Amino acid sequence: MIQAVPELAPGLDGCVETAFVLKYAALSAGYQGGFPRRPIPGSSHPPGRSHSLESFTLSESSRLEALTDQLGRGIRDLRISVTDRCNFRCPYCMPIETYGENYEFLAKPELLTFEEIERLTRLFVAHGVEKLRITGGEPLLRRELPSLLERLVQIPGVEDLALTTNGYLLAAQAQTLRDAGLRRITVSLDSHDEETFKRMSGRTFGPQRVFEGIEAADACGLRPIKINCVVQRGVNDHQIVDLARRFKGTGHIVRFIEFMDVGTLNRWDMAQVVSAAEIRGRIEAEFPLDPVPPQYEGEVATRFEYRDGSGEIGIISSVSAPFCGACSRARLTIEGQLVTCLFASRGTDLRGPLRDGESDEALSQRIAEVWGNRRDRYSEERAGLLEVRGPDRAISKIEMYQVGG
Ligand code: GTP
Ligand code: 5AD
Ligand code: SF4
Ligand code: SF4
Repeated sequence: MIQAVPELAPGLDGCVETAFVLKYAALSAGYQGGFPRRPIPGSSHPPGRSHSLESFTLSESSRLEALTDQLGRGIRDLRISVTDRCNFRCPYCMPIETYGENYEFLAKPELLTFEEIERLTRLFVAHGVEKLRITGGEPLLRRELPSLLERLVQIPGVEDLALTTNGYLLAAQAQTLRDAGLRRITVSLDSHDEETFKRMSGRTFGPQRVFEGIEAADACGLRPIKINCVVQRGVNDHQIVDLARRFKGTGHIVRFIEFMDVGTLNRWDMAQVVSAAEIRGRIEAEFPLDPVPPQYEGEVATRFEYRDGSGEIGIISSVSAPFCGACSRARLTIEGQLVTCLFASRGTDLRGPLRDGESDEALSQRIAEVWGNRRDRYSEERAGLLEVRGPDRAISKIEMYQVGG
């Protein structure tokens, strides 16, 4: 049956026993996410690794070459969408006019099962993926999510497992997520102000539950907590400094994101973008900042420290200073499409062949071919494209909630 309203995850009161080895000991207190073992160039660390596909049909001797795309970029990150549903209706992502009560989200048989997600993830890891991010829609709406995390965290070669949530269900689930093996979390929060929050989430409640979620995550050690704020001129840009102030000194890292032209529904216009330079300038006018070097090659956020030592912020400049050159991110949609760019108009189906009984070798070969042919660099091309044809909403693009952030 196709359900028109988001189904909430069941009550998560029981604690999941953690029976597996905590291979995350390296994620010590000061670690801010990313790869402790993927330093920026100049180090002796090799540019790519490969793994065997343990417990799968590829023979033990089959070690896969680390993949490289047409622009020389490896595959290091896999962002896995676990649901197409969300309990928010952010106008820039799932506008209520389109995603109203009668909207038909995907039916259960269309979703990848946890077994399928795990199997595909192992194949990606064998090709060099080290970092997994669980996204949605809103991932905490996916039933039994902790059991997926338990599976993923045990895959040899997975060095980082993170999750992006809107925080609404986080207070109830934080401990269970942590027990299942999640080590850190990213919370989307576009405003701490009641009215602006309502406007940006498309809901009638304020941010209180999100704050409670952040506190609960902090209390059970899901750190560092990153707080992602999409800045939209005329909507929430007047609160940049207030949001920074609210989390200054808490240990949480607010990251301000330039509003992007993802998907087809957000009526994006360059005039709505507040540039990274402007964001930095506004914060610096109140709180002096010093740049901090990236923690790993291809880091999405540019990092800054408060000069008074009270913490760090990030600015994500995907429009004014694109970072396609080092983009090692693959995306797996909940329907099993492999998507090689946030701005792609389509993906490559892996679910069909997987359900048709294709072997690991053959599936793995598909992944290798897609990545090997990859040429995506949309954000770098954007300026040229806009010049030629303006913000063309007719171009088909996958929606953000289908590929995760
Ligand atoms: P960590 O450093 O591991 O915490 O994550 P991250 O820096 O990759 O950031 P995160 O996954 O939280 O992404 C933050 C935001 O950056 C997303 O919501 C997007 O708006 C933007 N972003 C992330 N990845 C890409 C990408 O590949 N291309 C573009 N253009 N934007 C991206
Ligand atoms: N521009 C930038 N970031 C966006 N996100 C969603 N839509 C956009 C956009 N147009 C971010 C959300 C969230 C993540 C899932 O993606 O803020 O952090
Ligand atoms: Fe949901 Fe995130 Fe999209 Fe908002 S941006 S509607 S929270 S998936
Ligand atoms: Fe990667 Fe595409 Fe984003 Fe560029 S626009 S950084 S290629 S996902």
